[in-house]
Amino acid sequence: MNIDWENLGFKFMPTRSNIRFHYENGQWDEGKLYDTYDITLSVAANAFHYGQALFEGGKAFRCKDGKVRIFRPEENGKRLNSSARHLMMPEFPVDKFVEAVKTVVRDNEDYIPPYGTGGALYIRPVMFGTTPQIGVGASLTYELVILVVPVGAYYKGGIKPVDAMISRDYDRAAPHGTGHIKAAGNYAASLISGKQAKDHHCAVALFLDPATHTYVDEFGTSNFLAITRDGKYVTTLSDSILPSITNNSLMTIAADLGMPTERRRVKATELPDFAEVAACGTAVVLTPVGRILDGGNIIDYHLDTIGPVLKKLYDEMTGIQHGERPDKHNWLVEI
Ligand code: PLP
Ligand code: COI
Repeated sequence: MNIDWENLGFKFMPTRSNIRFHYENGQWDEGKLYDTYDITLSVAANAFHYGQALFEGGKAFRCKDGKVRIFRPEENGKRLNSSARHLMMPEFPVDKFVEAVKTVVRDNEDYIPPYGTGGALYIRPVMFGTTPQIGVGASLTYELVILVVPVGAYYKGGIKPVDAMISRDYDRAAPHGTGHIKAAGNYAASLISGKQAKDHHCAVALFLDPATHTYVDEFGTSNFLAITRDGKYVTTLSDSILPSITNNSLMTIAADLGMPTERRRVKATELPDFAEVAACGTAVVLTPVGRILDGGNIIDYHLDTIGPVLKKLYDEMTGIQHGERPDKHNWLVEI
């Protein structure tokens, strides 16, 4: 094993094992660790044709005291079930989910980036319908697989500001659709906007509310948050965005630091008024946004580096995750 911990990026690599659970006859089995990434499925399996597929994302950290801790895995378990309910897939017991995450992290301890490298072990649960079928309907059988992969920064440059581009030609989700769950199809739908953004030298697409295209929804990979000129934490309220565990945690941290916080509808026309803007999520952590492109217009936040308020939030969040600062809200689960 020869891993360059300092330069991991966000790429798949095989590790020692993944854990798999099989659902059949109305119940989940007890699960097993596998040392292969291959799976044999019928080409008629539901997930390929009718898209019963969802996923999750979490992280485990090597902390300052040498122990390994997972960040809020229960929340991933609950959100997995909210996605499953919407997609007519079976729920998975949350306590069993947390135990499964602990088991697979423990088995892959050698792949957890050392303390101080800035890396983490990314936890990727994925659930999909496997029954061969040609008529539209819910699958009768499913797999839940939890993979783990060592990762570093999602966007090159770590917390250097990235540029974003407002997606004016495409939505990632429909009104009353699947934007609020982690359906695999949401990401397929967002790829074309991601490509447009990259063609304009932007790292990420920023989506507007699909009903009126006047309010900010979220980025393709993460939630939107902003700091107002008078120091308030503002994030978007919408029924077509994913309820981000990171955003929820950052809001709690902001309140702990005495900052006013607000979850409300944010008009796209307000964007130039903010002092600092960022994307937040498990993979992107807290990534500042330097500029937002909107057609021919450029909103420039004039940042070469992360702004002062976001920096404070970033330091507190990553400090808690790495066991450097008190975990007041009991977010970390030791393996
Ligand atoms: N929004 C989208 C579309 C995402 O894919 C993610 C990533 O999981 C998030 C928001 C952030 O959610 P979380 O903080 O729970 O990772
Ligand atoms: C995560 O942050 O965990 C995600 O699933 C986002 C994905 C785009 C990598």
